[in-house]
Formats: sequence, structure tokens, C-alpha cells
Amino acid sequence: MSPTNIAVIGAGYWGKKVISEILGLARDGFNLNLYSVVDSSQAALELCRKEYGQLDYRTDYQDLLTDSKLSCVHIASPNHTHFKVASDFIRNGKHVLVEKPLSLKSVEAFELVRLAKEYGRVLCTGHVHRFNNGVRALRRLMTSGVLGDVYYLRFRWTGLLASQPNREVITDLGPHPFDICNNLLDTWPRKISCRGRGFRTNAGYEMADIYAEHPNGLDASIELSWLDLEKRRDVSVIGSDGAARLDCLGQRLILQRTDGAEPVLVLPNNTLKEEIIHFMSCVEHSSSPEVYPNMASGELGAGVVRLLEASKRSLEEDRAVRVEMPRVEDQLIRERLYDLSPEPRIRGS
Ligand SMILES: NC(=O)c1ccc[n+]([C@@H]2O[C@H](COP(=O)([O-])OP(=O)(O)OC[C@H]3O[C@@H](n4cnc5c(N)ncnc54)[C@H](O)[C@@H]3O)[C@@H](O)[C@H]2O)c1
Repeated sequence: MSPTNIAVIGAGYWGKKVISEILGLARDGFNLNLYSVVDSSQAALELCRKEYGQLDYRTDYQDLLTDSKLSCVHIASPNHTHFKVASDFIRNGKHVLVEKPLSLKSVEAFELVRLAKEYGRVLCTGHVHRFNNGVRALRRLMTSGVLGDVYYLRFRWTGLLASQPNREVITDLGPHPFDICNNLLDTWPRKISCRGRGFRTNAGYEMADIYAEHPNGLDASIELSWLDLEKRRDVSVIGSDGAARLDCLGQRLILQRTDGAEPVLVLPNNTLKEEIIHFMSCVEHSSSPEVYPNMASGELGAGVVRLLEASKRSLEEDRAVRVEMPRVEDQLIRERLYDLSPEPRIRGS
């Protein structure tokens, strides 16, 4: 069987990681071929050429849209391009994996879900922690009952980043905690309150505290910051009989009880590699009648975009915001979407 051809769109910080994983998978014998690397910046492509040698490099993807040899695309271009790039490829019959957040607006994200259904294509979102063995172990711990009654969850997603003009922390750091929370609880919050601020000159929101109320009374608080010297990607689950603490980066899980703390065995894994393999499996199964669960589906991605929007609305309107997940079919005025909106205006920038 000839290998599945995949293109990477956007070869910056994250796109290069994606390229390395795809090349590694092909070297390891996976039936996968890095068909093309697209970046609108020649300088970015030059860096790739130095690092990866001769590949098919392009500054735009127009010719790839109708290239019948290409079947899949991994989109790692900036957030504001996701909707345009993903919808262009889906409409031309390609399967797509879009980095988080799926899009900047939920109306666009749900439209991508609808389009993928209409064209019978796979749509995955880059919710890489769906493939994190630490998160899987935490989920097992929660269902085992060892924590007793689970009371609440706490997420800390922090680290120091230089002032980011035209970006804000909720959109950039919020997707993973919201997605992990949905993965652990299997529910979406019904109400969100958010406070946050930008501090440095020309910066948008640089820190935010989000409180997400879930229907079963299991609430989650999420701290996001680009100002904290400590880089953390931590989840705590607090229960009546103990607490579980997961470092999502190191994939270290600790169970704390009144009589002491003990590590829980986790075999750390390469989450991005698993995410790409899962995308390939979804693609492989897409033409068979057998149902294959998409663990990082477009629906999940669109749900998370909804929560990011609710958080920003809560912050701007200084009130708790009720969250409603729209049905894909309810999405309105689709024509408006293709009139692409520019990068959103960020308060304080
Ligand atoms: N899953 C994760 O944990 C994770 C981590 C980091 C970034 N990301 C996501 O990856 C995406 C890229 O982030 P980054 O940090 O690599 O940004 P980046 O700025 O380093 O790279 C983006 C690249 O896309 C190129 N580009 C811009 N517009 C383009 C277009 N229309 N077509 C092709 N290329 C285009 C830019 O020239 C740049 O090289 C973002 O959506 C981000 O949220 C995900």
C-alpha cells in the first residue's frame, strides 16, 4: 500500500515539532510520507531546509488543494488562519488536524465540524493531552474511587513569556486545561466566571483566573499566566479521601492521603507522536463502515472554543456567563464566515 501523504501548514515553533515527528514516524516504518511543508515565510522555510534538508517546500498551499496525491493536512499556522486554511482543505476533500484552538470563533469552529461531516472528512483538533499517559492515569485514579468523593479540580497553566502584542493568554493557554477538564469529567461547564489583566505595555490579557461550574457540582478553577517565573502545567483533583496531583509535562502523578503521599506509576509517552498516529488511524478508518472513535474530534475542539469565548465575555462584561453548546445544525449565516475576520482586537493592545 502506498504511504499516506501528509502536508504541514505553518513551520514555526510547533510546526517544526510536527515535521520532526512525521519524519520520525516515516523512518520508523509507519506508512506515512511528509509530502509538503508550507509556510508563508521564506525565512521559516529556510530554517527548515537547514534542519531537515531537501523536502517539498512552498510558500502557499493553493496547488495542494487540488493535488489528488495529498490526503491529509496538519495545520500549525497562527490561530487566526485556522478557519480559512482548514475550510479550504476540507472543501477540497482533505482530512485535517488543526492545532488548538480549532478556531478563534465558535461559529467558525462549529462550521468546520459541519463541513467535515458534509464532505465526509476527518477533523481532529490538536488537543495533545488527550494522548497524555499522565492524564489517562489520573482519569483511572478518579474512577477507581481512591479519592473518595471528588470535590473540585484545579489547573495551573503558567510560565514566563515576553509581552505578546495581538495575543492574549486565554486563547493561547486556555484550550488544554479546558480540554483536560472535559476529558476527566465528561461534561462541559454550564457557567464560567473569569477575571484577568494585562500588565506590560501593549500586552493583551496576560493572566486570567477562570472558574468553571460543571452540572454535577464538580467545579474547576483554572489559573493562566504568562507572568509567572514558574512553568507549570499542573492539574490537582481534590477529593474527600485524598488528592491527586499531575504534572502534565513530566507526566508525574502523585496521590496524597492523610497518611502520606505516593507516586502513581505512569509510563511517560510522546503525546504529539500519538496524536499524529491517532489522526492517521482516523483517516484509515474513515472509508470503512466500522465506527472508529475520534478522541480529539472537531466537536471537542469547537466546544473548547465556546468556553474560551465565554471566559472572555465574562471578563469583558464583569459577570458570570452561562455556557450553551450549540448544535452544529444551528449555526447561522454561514456566508458571513467566509468573509474572513482579521485578528481580533484585544483590549489593552
Ligand atoms: N498543541 C500544543 O501544545 C501547541 C503548542 C504550541 C503551539 N500550538 C499551536 O500551533 C500553532 C502555531 O503556533 P507556533 O507557536 O508554532 O507559532 P509560530 O508563529 O512560531 O509559527 C506559525 C508559522 O505559520 C506561518 N504562517 C502564517 N500564516 C500562514 C499561512 N496562511 N499559511 C502557511 N503558513 C503561515 C508563519 O510564517 C510561522 O512560521 C498555533 O495555533 C498554536 O496555538 C500548539
